[in-house]
Amino acid sequence: MVVIARMLLPAGLEPLRERFEVREGGLEVTREELLELVPGAHALVPDPSVPVDDQLLDACGEGLRIVANFAVGHDNVDLAACERRGIVVTNTPGVLTEATAELALALTLAAARRMSDAERDLREGRWWGWDPSAHRGIELRGATVGVVGLGRIGRRYAELVRGLGAEVVYTARGPKPDAEEELGARMLELPELIETADAVSLHAPANEETHRLIGAAELELLGPQGVLVNTSRGPLVDAEALAAALRNGKLGAAGLDVYENEPEVPAALLDAPRCVLLPHIGSATTTARDRMARTVADNVIAVLEGKDPPNPVGV
Ligand code: DGY
Repeated sequence: MVVIARMLLPAGLEPLRERFEVREGGLEVTREELLELVPGAHALVPDPSVPVDDQLLDACGEGLRIVANFAVGHDNVDLAACERRGIVVTNTPGVLTEATAELALALTLAAARRMSDAERDLREGRWWGWDPSAHRGIELRGATVGVVGLGRIGRRYAELVRGLGAEVVYTARGPKPDAEEELGARMLELPELIETADAVSLHAPANEETHRLIGAAELELLGPQGVLVNTSRGPLVDAEALAAALRNGKLGAAGLDVYENEPEVPAALLDAPRCVLLPHIGSATTTARDRMARTVADNVIAVLEGKDPPNPVGV
């Protein structure tokens, strides 16, 4: 039996239904309802808003063989707890690279050009005609863009901003000679990257190492014209410090797609100026979401049929 914790699109649901009994929690499932739905599951399909911990794994029972996350990020899954039980964890790499990199670019441009404030002013009747002093931002041509994490998505984002004429600097676990050669990118330590960059985009996973990577000091270093973009995971950024930096003019603008306790968005951010806020839509293209759903199904089918899954995640 396969339990979809919340929802899986037909591209993944149909192949699963053809082979297995499938139960779905629905988008509004509560934790209590989920705990009642999962007993007897052989496969569990969570998404980034479903924490998979000892409690949920225990509730599934001993027959659980795979946790197939409906996302590439898997910080919602306690990998060690799965490993202790011999449960395979899989994710959906590759298929959402383009969608997420493009959204990061869109957020970079939207924040750099103050689009949310400009649109709000127009809608709320605060447009009195062309104003040379209003909503002035920065251009990407000739700007330096810092890419924190040069994995698949970071790398594609770097190509896109490079295509607009930006210089690229990056942080990564190790040098990426191909990116240096193809994009003229330079690897820097994070403080130096932030100090050098006009805009910084985060593409690193959420873990202990990246927790609050960007706080008050980093935002101040980015500066009054600087732009911060986060399409990775909320915990990388201290949201209160970000809202304060925007309010007191220490940071130019921000574009966020992710938050620490989704779907909660800190009130301070909702009120902050020059801040574009999106509801975790990085991978929300029809192509990417369908391919993610199909990837989930491929992983579940492989494991339940006794084969190696295409996308295992290591501890
Ligand atoms: C992922 O796959 O990790 C994305 O954040 C989902 O949109």
